[in-house]
Order: sequence, then C-alpha cells, then structure tokens
Amino acid sequence: MTFGSDQMNLLSISDLSPQEIGAILDRADDLKARRGDPSARSILAGKSLAAIFEKPSTRTRVSLEVAMTDLGGHTLYLGKNDLQLGRGETLPDTARVLSRFVHGIAARVYDHKTLEELGRHAAVPVINVLSDQEHPCQILADLMTVRERFGRLSGLKVAWIGDGNNVCNSTIIAAAMMGMEIVVASPPGYGPNRKILDHADRLGGGTVVVTDPVKAVSGADVVSTDTWVSMGDEDDAVRRVEAFRRYQVNADLLSHASDGAIVMHCLPAHRGQEITDEVMDGPKSAILDQSENRLHSAKAVLERFLV
Ligand code: CP
Ligand code: NVA
Repeated sequence: MTFGSDQMNLLSISDLSPQEIGAILDRADDLKARRGDPSARSILAGKSLAAIFEKPSTRTRVSLEVAMTDLGGHTLYLGKNDLQLGRGETLPDTARVLSRFVHGIAARVYDHKTLEELGRHAAVPVINVLSDQEHPCQILADLMTVRERFGRLSGLKVAWIGDGNNVCNSTIIAAAMMGMEIVVASPPGYGPNRKILDHADRLGGGTVVVTDPVKAVSGADVVSTDTWVSMGDEDDAVRRVEAFRRYQVNADLLSHASDGAIVMHCLPAHRGQEITDEVMDGPKSAILDQSENRLHSAKAVLERFLV
C-alpha cells in the first residue's frame, strides 16, 4: 500500500493538503449556490474527461458526467468492455494514448495499483473514483455535507460503523487531516488496514479502532456506514453478513450519539443490513444531501485538476 505525493493526481485524499481540501469545499459551495448559472459553462469549456469504470456506478458516473456538462466540458464513459485494455492493451499504452486525447482520466478500479500505473504513465491528471484502497471524491462530498450541517469540521467526532474498507480509509485519512476525531467500530478481522492508520497518524490524528459499535457512536456528531459487501467482496458475502450483524446503524445504536448527530452513507445502501429504513429516511439522515454533494464537489475537483 502506497500513497502518492505528487500534485498532479488525486489517488488518495492525502494527495491534497488540508488547505486545498478547504479550497475545494469552498468552491463546491460556491458552485452549488450557482447551479444553473450559464456562465459556469466556460469553466471547463473544451475539456474532455475519460472516465474508466471497471465496476458499476450510479452516483460517481452521473456526477462526473453532469459536472462536466454543467461546466461546459465533455465526458467519455468507458466501461470495462469498451477499451482495448480488455483485450490485453497495456495500462501504460492506454494512459499514454488517452493523454493525447483528453485533459484528465477518472478511473474506478478493483486494484489501487492500476491507478498508480495509470498515474505513472499518463501525461494528464488521474483521479481515483474508487479503488480497493480509497474513495477520495466521496470523502470530499462527505466533508462538504458535514460542513454544511455543522459549519465546521475541526473538533467534531465521527463514528465509522462497519467495514474498514475504501470509504472508511478515506474517512480516516481526511479526519486526521481536518482535525476531526474518529472512532471506527468493525468486527474482528474487518477493521482498517494498519498502513492506513499509520498514514493517518502521520497526518495528524490518532484513529481509535474498537469492536463495540456503542462505544464508537457514544457522543458522536457524525455516524457513517457503508455496505458490508463491497464490490469485489461478493464471494465472502455470507460470512460478512454474519460477522457484521451487530454493526447495523439503527435507532437503538443512534440513541447513543449526540443530540444533533447526523447519519451518513456513501450509498448504495443495503436497507435492513448496515442501515435501517427508519434511520436512512429519518430526521438525522444527511444521506441525500451527501449524495447530491457528489455533483458539486466533483465540479470543484474537475476544475482543480483539469484547468
Ligand atoms: N457512492 C458511490 O460512489 O456510489 P456509486 O457506486 O453509485 O458511484
Ligand atoms: N465500499 C463500497 C463503496 C461503494 C461506493 C464498495 O467498494 O463497493
């Protein structure tokens, strides 16, 4: 597991500094307020984005495509069977050739190393739109949503309930960078990777990892969860659903959070597993705003990397 440090690509949320994250969030707020303003179409006029998807997507694909269109640019959706990559063309050749056509490459991949290889050989920025390691575009939308609700990030307590996977990893790293306290509750064997925790420690924060979800949620301002069976984990689904049974975000668990707590989920949700209908559709849920903010934050990311 490695973390890039160059300014050209967005492979990890830590490729941005805390100041840059703040600037992207400010710009996302601004673009949200300006939605429908025709002058925004000059921001990415003439720019093209190649969006490679090895896995399905609703929010990420649609947010990227609408963001590019709203800002005057163009997206090429490239599913896993649309490229010669599927017939054995190499990643370096794909990266070099796409770089002659487009101004940026967004990629959703199974293995984070695919992104790193694309990043090494592309002459244009490569943006991670979900790998097995991280989901930086998701966490930017999440931070935007938290800031909208609380007016700040620093000093808030985040409880992550469930799988210590890609979205959790970006949440841990972002919390450390932005001065948020984070407690992760996962079943034994499904917690976050030690290298992510060490990386977050170096960036500023000490993540607390526990197995008791009540302990994590106690006094939390933000309660976040994700599916128990991520894309690529399907073969392990039965074992996972059993292991995570105690980690459902439901009204009982939420009663331990702070009074003004919000609930977040990157989606897609498996209602009745990691989250109940009651919580997902209830007054503490910030989930639809979080989802909408994928669009506004995507615009700010695309402007930052493609202009
Ligand atoms: N949250 C998220 O990335 O959703 P999609 O898988 O639908 O893109
Ligand atoms: N952890 C989930 C996130 C989906 C946006 C997955 O990787 O499938």
